[in-house]
Amino acid sequence: MHLQRLWLSDFRSYTTAELTFAPGLTALLGANGQGKTNIMEAVAYLATLSSFRGAPNEALVRRGAAGAVLRAEAEREGRALLIEAEITPSGRGRVQINRHRLARTRDLLGALRVSVFSPDDLELVKGGPAERRRYLDETLVARRPAADVLRTDLDRILRQRNALLKQAGGRLTPEIDATLAVWDAKLVEVGEALAEARAALIEDLAPSLAGAYDDVAGRPAHVLATYEAPWRATGLAAALEAARRDELRRGTSLVGPHRDDLLLTIDDLPSRTHASQGEQRSLALALRLAAHRVVTESTGTPPILLLDDVFSELDPDRSWALLTHLPLGQTLLSSATGLPPGTTPEQIYRIEDGSLRLS
Ligand SMILES: Nc1ncnc2c1ncn2[C@@H]1O[C@H](COP(=O)(O)OP(=O)(O)OP(=O)(O)O)[C@@H](O)[C@H]1O
Ligand SMILES: [Mg+2]
Repeated sequence: MHLQRLWLSDFRSYTTAELTFAPGLTALLGANGQGKTNIMEAVAYLATLSSFRGAPNEALVRRGAAGAVLRAEAEREGRALLIEAEITPSGRGRVQINRHRLARTRDLLGALRVSVFSPDDLELVKGGPAERRRYLDETLVARRPAADVLRTDLDRILRQRNALLKQAGGRLTPEIDATLAVWDAKLVEVGEALAEARAALIEDLAPSLAGAYDDVAGRPAHVLATYEAPWRATGLAAALEAARRDELRRGTSLVGPHRDDLLLTIDDLPSRTHASQGEQRSLALALRLAAHRVVTESTGTPPILLLDDVFSELDPDRSWALLTHLPLGQTLLSSATGLPPGTTPEQIYRIEDGSLRLS
């Protein structure tokens, strides 16, 4: 897979922009706030239909514009691909491949794949459970685009179920009870399927994760990843039954995959609370490396690597470890401080005042 060309229109800070990409390494250099990450985000949006910064679509559309358009030319297994996506402030817009409008927006997923590394990855280890659930779900979808249906269904079911719980105002009338039973059944079906998929993914990630941590940290440690979902002991239906009273009182869904976590430990200590800064950084890199490896194995082609300013945060040893352990296929790298030592880009874009200059 090779991304050849990208056009942006009214995306983030860009009114219009056009870039070409080398088959190997392309560097984007420029001072803070010039629009380097915006370019990475545009490429990633075409792969995942969302922002890797977790930004809402509204933030992706240039201020004052009605909508954004992204277009990319790529080559995959000798076939030319033209991918186009509209972004509206309220959500995913129309998408087309080779000028055919896709019946479902999600059918775009899998046409391009990316693995993003960014300084924010530290949040995977230090941050709350939502960051880790997003990591798991994005990796699931990168591996098998059909899994997207699980997370979007879960979101929809929870929205409706929460609205109902709120509407109940703490009282379980026969009507509320009957409607709640319908949403419970849906939540059980989708929730258990998603949790099972996440748990299976973690098992597949485990060997790569342990290996990647040793590579990055430069010394062996016992790294474990486990899916934490207390409700799985009894099944979701029984757990919902047990939580009924609390859920009615609080007016929101309290058990299910939207509350689960990925528990990470180094030498049996929980990394979020016990690991050192350096260990947390190594583990965050290892999580991204492991996902990159697992997706490459299951799809047969390495995703495009987006290395967004990662080297500025890493000491020389970890930078070197990352560069030597990443199978460098097509890569975009951004930096505000110049090129990391040991990199030899095929082309360099310099970004200044929103304009791109190729050198
Ligand atoms: N929707 C939007 N409309 C207009 N401008 C935007 C929008 N979203 C972001 N920007 C602008 O884009 C700029 C940030 O771009 P970006 O994050 O790509 O910078 P960067 O080059 O990666 O900087 P750094 O080196 O600090 O990471 C900011 O100046 C911000 O105001
Ligand atoms: Mg940036």
